[in-house]
Amino acid sequence: MAPAGSRPAVLVARRLLAAGYERLAESCEITEGGIHVTRQRLLELAPGADAIVADPAVPIDAELLEAAGPQLKVVANFAVGYDNVDPEACRDRGVMVTNTPDVLTNATAELALALTLAAARRITEAEADLRAGRWTGWDPGVLLGEELSGATFGVVGLGRIGRRYAELVAPLAGEILYVSRTPKPDAERELDAARVELGELLSRSDVISLHVPASAETAGLVGTEELRAMKAHAVLVNTARGPLVDSAALAAALRAGEIGAAGLDVFESEPEVPAELLEAPRCVLLPHIGSATTRARDAMAGLVAENVLAALAGTEPPNRVA
Ligand code: NAP
Ligand code: GLV
Repeated sequence: MAPAGSRPAVLVARRLLAAGYERLAESCEITEGGIHVTRQRLLELAPGADAIVADPAVPIDAELLEAAGPQLKVVANFAVGYDNVDPEACRDRGVMVTNTPDVLTNATAELALALTLAAARRITEAEADLRAGRWTGWDPGVLLGEELSGATFGVVGLGRIGRRYAELVAPLAGEILYVSRTPKPDAERELDAARVELGELLSRSDVISLHVPASAETAGLVGTEELRAMKAHAVLVNTARGPLVDSAALAAALRAGEIGAAGLDVFESEPEVPAELLEAPRCVLLPHIGSATTRARDAMAGLVAENVLAALAGTEPPNRVA
């Protein structure tokens, strides 16, 4: 516990943008680990922290919580997904966990749309050819992709981002299918979306976009069997989390022409990108930039600060998830 009159200690594990940092700095002592902080350094910085600001690249587990000490009140994740945090370890120690929902929904859904179009129309491959001087003139038979007007879009996880993605593709879609734990009557009414089982979604969709969180239930959601169930021209998009997709199976399916294309923003052991995906054909790869717009990231940083300040003041943080 910070001594009476002293300012609470906030450990920003890696980096917090000014929109959040400056608000916290008004009343807290901030230590920043820096974008390349090591696990060892975090363990050294943690003792005495009243709040820890984490992000998807920072595992928060029992060891780090123990290192911080019993005064720790909150782990504020600078992300909506919080699969990097062990919620039980936090609960056992009375530490709250918060995230940054809603403010990144548009940015992430828009990136999923960008990946959908880029993968379907082979945009990165076409540009790489041009830049490498391989373009020899208009050719009626090269770089042919998939046209999406009238396509069936399958959305796996119709939460905030999945729903927004469905809204964005609705003007193109012939049909929208979705998989969800709970029915979404609003989306069924407003977007004419139909709830189906995963197997049906995989076999009927021309585009499949993943929007469920990483969890024990969703790990390996798309593997060899699921890829074989897809159409030979299907486009798979993953802006959710890497562990949802078996990358070796995906690379094999792309090489064998069992699916049409893939667009990925997330990987199992980031920032490592599996070599087989780097070498796979018709595969667009991005470095986890789903929420990377100035508007979204500033708003996320603001929410991180609000959550930390509420927890330190002994009130319920607005975005508490555990
Ligand atoms: P959300 O609103 O909680 O939506 C998640 C949806 O997944 C919910 O509708 C939930 O169903 C559904 N779901 C959960 N487990 C499921 C399961 N086992 N089977 C079927 N459906 C399941 O979350 P969000 O804000 O849309 O974010 C979704 C995920 O996107 C995050 O967890 C994060 O991993 C990822 N993300 C990535 C980026 C990026 O930079 N690439 C940016 C932001 C978010 P119910 O509605 O029935 O609970
Ligand atoms: C980013 O990946 C997030 O979950 O916000």
